[in-house]
Amino acid sequence: MMRDFRALNLLILIFSAINVIAVGLFTVSFLNSPRNKTHQPTECRTLIQAHRFRARRNFLSPHRARIRPNTRLAFAFGIENAFTTPDEEYATHFVRNARNLINLQAQDWERLAKSLQSKANELISTAHRLHLASVVQSLSLRIILTTLLNAELDTLPDAEKHMVSLAQAINRAWVSSKNDVDLIEFADNPGLQASLSALFPTFDGTDPRGNPLCWILPGFETSWRINLRIVLELLLNTGQTHPDWTATMIAFAENPTKTQFEAAGADEVSAKDVVAEGLRLYPPTKRIYRAFEWEENGARHSDTFAAAVEACHLAGRVWGQDALKYNPLRWRAVTDVQKQAYLPFGGAPFECPAKAVFGPRMIALVVGVFVGVLQVGHGWRLVDKDGNGVNDVFGGERLKNDRGSYEELFLVRAAGGV
Ligand code: HEM
Repeated sequence: MMRDFRALNLLILIFSAINVIAVGLFTVSFLNSPRNKTHQPTECRTLIQAHRFRARRNFLSPHRARIRPNTRLAFAFGIENAFTTPDEEYATHFVRNARNLINLQAQDWERLAKSLQSKANELISTAHRLHLASVVQSLSLRIILTTLLNAELDTLPDAEKHMVSLAQAINRAWVSSKNDVDLIEFADNPGLQASLSALFPTFDGTDPRGNPLCWILPGFETSWRINLRIVLELLLNTGQTHPDWTATMIAFAENPTKTQFEAAGADEVSAKDVVAEGLRLYPPTKRIYRAFEWEENGARHSDTFAAAVEACHLAGRVWGQDALKYNPLRWRAVTDVQKQAYLPFGGAPFECPAKAVFGPRMIALVVGVFVGVLQVGHGWRLVDKDGNGVNDVFGGERLKNDRGSYEELFLVRAAGGV
């Protein structure tokens, strides 16, 4: 009797486990099914406009279609900005503000470059072991905090430490916002709130429009991973056989003007090309989602569709046989078809205000400053968490583009380094 009971229990357990796995697989495959996404360039652009997708005509306004898939962001970060607000007028106002804030003058770029350079020097000259991703995150965050939020980081005690904690708290909340099981509401996330308060002492956690994350997320979340990947390409991958690319990025960090950004180095490649190729191969926004409601056979349906930006950027038939290889030279002769298939900053009518100038140049600045300070003493090498050197590990292949990759890389001062 007892044995039968145990066998029955075991059977129920196995059955439940199969059920859980099946539901999980169904959810994953549903969102990834070709029916729900496209990587065909013109279809991507049409979907981003949110009026129609294949045979479906959307009843939702483009604004509603865009904010609905971001409900979790609003929940996890307590933000109300252009990506999350139901108030269309406020969204327009937010975008206008963003345009003004990122419209930097020549002297602003110079000041920004100098402050970034001195911070990077300070970090590098005082430490013996540095977590690579944290350094890149803190430099990326510094640009956003100073330009968009006027943060007085130089007079704030322990600003560096607080920036690293904020970056980590944002990452954790981002991962949780993508995951049903761990989804944590901003109000229940004291870690994230504390790291914000440390940098913004007057921050009021109950005002979603006044939350600094409204301004931090669009620029920081997108830029730190691409910055890290370009640094790795230059120092450890394809750039190893093209030292001119690194020299070109350093030249821009030392003279951050439009002319310098577009100036081709000895090998015909400009800082603009290095960044464009990074954004093609490692687009920070891999997919752009739109919610749809439509009528079919007399019944109302709703679903979410995705413009698969990353897949569109990697298509061999558009980008050629070496589509998976980092090759900034391709930007010297880019075709109209390729321009159409290039969507790192989205598309009309929601195209990113940082597309033309601020976005690409802030990437070039962080990358240029960072590879520049590392070269000065020639005293650094990259190692994994066990201290093993990581030179030549990528073999010219495309790097991984997921959030957690390269979290285990450290910079250590080699013997004899200064
Ligand atoms: C590497 C840097 C950046 C990348 C790759 C990027 C990417 C994008 C993408 C893909 C979209 C379209 C989203 C959609 O259609 O749903 C977008 C929109 C937007 N981005 Fe960026 N972004 C970057 C930097 C920034 C920065 C620094 C700001 C400054 C606040 C910013 C503010 C915005 C805003 C306000 C929109 C909404 C535009 C609208 O609704 O018309 N972005 N961005």
